[in-house]
Amino acid sequence: MSEWIKISDFDFSDRKALIYNGVQLLLGYADNEIYCVENICSHEKARLSDGEYENGDIYCPKHGACFDIITGIPKTLPATDPLKVYEIKKLPDGVYILWNS
Ligand code: FES
Repeated sequence: MSEWIKISDFDFSDRKALIYNGVQLLLGYADNEIYCVENICSHEKARLSDGEYENGDIYCPKHGACFDIITGIPKTLPATDPLKVYEIKKLPDGVYILWNS
């Protein structure tokens, strides 16, 4: 079953790490829209929110792979597998994620 779950207020300027239902998530802005991916690198499981972030480009703190937050696809090695991408929507009271349970 899928349902929309509120996971955040608009209390961040570029990105925000959070945990929902035991899953580490990373919300981030790219060109003024918000996107959401799993916050764990697909290469060797580093926490991506510990690295740099620039307008949708997520840089892994461990080996430097860069991921696109919109697609989850790595732009650079050593990562080759994409991140899981979550569908989100903005409502007046905050950010909602489409959660599959
Ligand atoms: S753990 Fe992220 S690039 Fe290696």
